[in-house]
Amino acid sequence: MSWVVLVAAAGGVALISAFLMLLYIASLMASPKPFSLSGAHVVVTGGSSGIGKSIAVECFKQGAFITLLARNENRLLEAKKEIEKYAVNDKQVVHCISVDVSKDSADVERVLKQAQEKLGPIDMLVNSAGMSVTGKFEDLDTSSFEKLMAVNYLGSVYPTRAAITTMKERRMGRIVFVSSQAGQVGLFGYSAYSAAKFALRGLAEALQMEVKPYNVYVTVAYPSDTETPGFIEENKTKLLETRLISESSSPLYQPDYVARIIVKDAIQGKFSSSIGTDGHMLNILTSGMSPMNSLGEALETVICMGLFRLIGQYYTASFDSIVRRCMIQKEKSEKTD
Ligand SMILES: NC(=O)c1ccc[n+]([C@@H]2O[C@H](COP(=O)([O-])OP(=O)(O)OC[C@H]3O[C@@H](n4cnc5c(N)ncnc54)[C@H](OP(=O)(O)O)[C@@H]3O)[C@@H](O)[C@H]2O)c1
Repeated sequence: MSWVVLVAAAGGVALISAFLMLLYIASLMASPKPFSLSGAHVVVTGGSSGIGKSIAVECFKQGAFITLLARNENRLLEAKKEIEKYAVNDKQVVHCISVDVSKDSADVERVLKQAQEKLGPIDMLVNSAGMSVTGKFEDLDTSSFEKLMAVNYLGSVYPTRAAITTMKERRMGRIVFVSSQAGQVGLFGYSAYSAAKFALRGLAEALQMEVKPYNVYVTVAYPSDTETPGFIEENKTKLLETRLISESSSPLYQPDYVARIIVKDAIQGKFSSSIGTDGHMLNILTSGMSPMNSLGEALETVICMGLFRLIGQYYTASFDSIVRRCMIQKEKSEKTD
């Protein structure tokens, strides 16, 4: 009898402590001030294709002025024409700059200075330029590791460095990093890509802590498979295991849908942006000590973490079994050859 009372008392104390802790967290949380894209200057790296282009369209539809950065000039001009169809007023401009965001930080700084002279200080920077190479760790060339780190990680560091000082001075701004679900969980075939996308989260967490007092909010987006030119290209050489794992965990999304969610989350100042139920679950599951920019985000994580950990373990086990099955099949077919 006495141990029942003891357990009940301990449970009560734990509940009250958790509640008080949540109240304390809520009191510390400064919610982001409202942010509007109407008349804002939005810079999108990788804005000539796929998710980046759809993000530019979404921002343009909300009245923003856009600067697109990418390397290929023809694709930039085609994207500009496409985006301009969605103008909501006749003052809006789409400005294109051809630059490799991963090569020379001074170059990136110079072109973003030009862009700001033309369209005003940057209100929102979306780092979407990126690429993926899949292959087994030992089969990937070391140059692939270097390239993916340069484009996906340094290609986000350089534009962010060029924009952040003015944002802090103006005490407003949004920075978006387009990571990937492969930046939340390492998957077969993605040893080079996952590492570069994980790096973005570390960068974003540290940066958010530095810039939050200046009313600058950072969002890391974790899309899953999205039907873009980049995805179609990647699929041509994707390993069977990688493809089966991806297909077993999430549907194929359209870039416009993904872009709408990323833009909405960035406007709201959410730290993590996920797509679909699977993405949402993965987000909570992998949130660790990630910043939470609203009480809703924090509460949801606290409540769901235990259950989702269990579901996450189920997924990890089923991914392992896909890899094992593929291996057995390959060994069998090698023996019969
Ligand atoms: N599609 C997916 O399934 C998926 C899933 C999760 C995450 N993501 C991430 O989402 C982002 C966009 O992917 P996506 O599928 O939309 O790709 P995409 O269709 O291939 O578009 C990539 C864009 O980035 C630009 N770019 C690439 N390297 C660049 C560089 N060094 N400097 C400047 N611009 C560069 C490309 O233009 P140029 O080639 O002309 O430079 C293009 O505009 C990437 O970061 C990707 O890793 C994609």
